[in-house]
Amino acid sequence: MLQIGIIGTGWFSRVHADLLAQAADVRLSAVCGTSKEKADRLASAYRDAKGYGSLTEMLESERLDAVYVCVPPMAHGDLERELIARRIPFLVEKPIALDMQLPIELEKAIREQALITSVGYHFRYLPSVQRLKAELEGRTLAMASGEWSGSMPQVSWWRRQDGSGGQFIEQTTHVVDLLRYAAGEVEEVYAAYAGRVVHKQYEGVSVPDVGSVTLKLASGAVAGIINTCALPSGVGRSGLTLYTDQGMLAWTPKNLEIVTSEGREQAADEEANPYAAESEAFLHAVRTGDSSRIRSDYADALRTQQVTCAALESAASGLPVKLERL
Ligand SMILES: NC(=O)c1ccc[n+]([C@@H]2O[C@H](COP(=O)([O-])OP(=O)(O)OC[C@H]3O[C@@H](n4cnc5c(N)ncnc54)[C@H](O)[C@@H]3O)[C@@H](O)[C@H]2O)c1
Repeated sequence: MLQIGIIGTGWFSRVHADLLAQAADVRLSAVCGTSKEKADRLASAYRDAKGYGSLTEMLESERLDAVYVCVPPMAHGDLERELIARRIPFLVEKPIALDMQLPIELEKAIREQALITSVGYHFRYLPSVQRLKAELEGRTLAMASGEWSGSMPQVSWWRRQDGSGGQFIEQTTHVVDLLRYAAGEVEEVYAAYAGRVVHKQYEGVSVPDVGSVTLKLASGAVAGIINTCALPSGVGRSGLTLYTDQGMLAWTPKNLEIVTSEGREQAADEEANPYAAESEAFLHAVRTGDSSRIRSDYADALRTQQVTCAALESAASGLPVKLERL
């Protein structure tokens, strides 16, 4: 029986906790929140789980095999440092930080300990994404276009630049990661973040609500990714389309459409639950030491973070940013 802890008591902690509660030979033993009350509230929904208001107390009171870290971008740092120091494997939600300095430090420490990690880039676990990757192998990519569009999230930390890092780092990172996973590394980034179009409708907004980023890939292909959080609630879309010498591969989180001169094929994801697959891959690694099923570990996620942080830097300077090899 694996003993698991969760840090964070918000929406996504609950998603992971529900999956852990259904997993075989796994016990959600402990929840850590910013207060014991909040942690107790989440823990009380799961048999055997105890709430803690401090990570040190949780780790000293429980013998945990792994921890899920589900906190906002600005809260990363000391939590991971403590897990690494105690050699506890962890699954951390994306994005891994607000900047590059912290995750570079953490990645080095993780590598030195050979610690098992997983990062919540769940698209990688979809059958349609595996198909996208396989289809691209026999083709030459010319161009890619990606998008993440929706409304302003309700949580206050998300609207603050120093809380979330902005939409490209916080949400559109999923599309950047998918582009890297399917089509290879990014070499150069040029970004224009415009608008504060809807910020007056909400309190405490310091993030831009429109952005457009151009990327050059190592393969020679170019990509454009746009994002906005200016849409009304319930309206939005996200996806990635790859334009190749043999046609288009148009991916959305529910479907892959393969368009060639012979016609169109749909590869729908139907019942796939990428979060469950991601969690299973991590738990398998913790149980057996075999990390081969993990599709995004901390070192890989660091390269996605490098692209999104470069976009922020480019938007601020107005100049393209060439990525150094990590
Ligand atoms: N992979 C995905 O599809 C996906 C989906 C949703 C959220 N997420 C990510 O999960 C993370 C959390 O998002 P959420 O929607 O649960 O946010 P949320 O605001 O609902 O919850 C965040 C929780 O973290 C807690 N927290 C903050 N600092 C903490 C600390 N130092 N110690 C313990 N707890 C702390 C807060 O009290 C809160 O309970 C974000 O990075 C988000 O991007 C990923």
